[in-house]
Amino acid sequence: MSETITFPDGFLWGTATAAHQVEGGNWNNDWWEWEHDPGSPTVDVSGDACDHLWRYPADIAVLADLGFGAYRFSLEWSRIEPEEGEFSTAALDHYRRMIAATLDHDLVPVVTFHHFTTPRWATADGGWESPATPERFARFCERATAHLGDVIGMACTINEPNVVAVMGYLLAHFPPGVSDGARYLRANEQMLRGHRLGYEAIKAGRGDFPTGMTLSMQEYDCEPGGEELMERSRHSSEDVFLDAARGDDFLGAQMYTRLRFGPDGLVGPPPGATTTIMGYEFRPESLEHCVRRAAELAAVPIYVTENGIAATDDAERVEYVTEALRGVRRCLDDGIDVRSYFYWSLLDNFEWSEGYGPTFGLIGIDRATQERHVRPSARWLGDIARSNMMRA
Ligand code: BGC
Repeated sequence: MSETITFPDGFLWGTATAAHQVEGGNWNNDWWEWEHDPGSPTVDVSGDACDHLWRYPADIAVLADLGFGAYRFSLEWSRIEPEEGEFSTAALDHYRRMIAATLDHDLVPVVTFHHFTTPRWATADGGWESPATPERFARFCERATAHLGDVIGMACTINEPNVVAVMGYLLAHFPPGVSDGARYLRANEQMLRGHRLGYEAIKAGRGDFPTGMTLSMQEYDCEPGGEELMERSRHSSEDVFLDAARGDDFLGAQMYTRLRFGPDGLVGPPPGATTTIMGYEFRPESLEHCVRRAAELAAVPIYVTENGIAATDDAERVEYVTEALRGVRRCLDDGIDVRSYFYWSLLDNFEWSEGYGPTFGLIGIDRATQERHVRPSARWLGDIARSNMMRA
């Protein structure tokens, strides 16, 4: 039997992207270098990506026409500060035009200051292990806020600082490709400082908009004997960040699946579980779990700033989001202050080391022509956004 699920007035519906995954030609950051390193596990180079650098006006217009109310995207630090201390007004003006395009379409511009990519000059000088990087990041935040702060709707300091540290310094899946426990903890520490210093720089600047970090969260689970490892991993990659978010304006919660631990490490999805193109367990109910945990530990308003699925069957995407949204509604029913749902992603894009294979987009892209194809799930979710309710 179908039911109608409504959402509170002002609930924000959006989609998200990140500069390096969609813009194209971001050759001046650590990811471009990593993609071109024959020793890295990347399967594609980002290349032209979705050419969103030039095509953003049309993409933003489609997003608004579909019925969404917000667009989350990121500033590319390496464009704005191509060499240390050398700031590009033209690059800042580009992002000002992008923000203006969202405002012209009545979309709230949600701006992420760091989404996985760091300028080459900063990674050549110690990257996220060096105490200089958080300070350089804060200076970048200060300059960008001075130029854009009057038009930003909401700001995210660092996207998934926990992922940058784990993937880059423990699992060697992201640059700089390190696998070392002590170096990982150092990077975690500097990411936390980066968030704190960036937050202060943004808040001290022009404009007055909510600011927070976005955190990759998982539903943590274990088999017998995996408890200790699970707790240890959750502590360093989730709890210290949730703790650091206390007192911020909000926390951006981002969730895709569940992680299961055994006594010797990760054990993967349970036998018989459905998995996605990413190899993740299909588990939309994890979102509810993470929102509850984020609200409890960070004790600030929660914005779901990313949730989604890479799927070849678009109906699977609808099924995933339907279940995830039911969970958000249950959180609201219990009085949890959750204020948004941003689907990841607006477009099929460069999925980091996995390249262009995984299709997360509400909009598909012909990679040869850059032609966009709006999927039925985009219209379905856009209608939910417009009406602020879901029939399920
Ligand atoms: C990141 C995105 C990424 C998505 C899907 C998140 O961890 O913020 O950049 O594409 O997950 O894997």
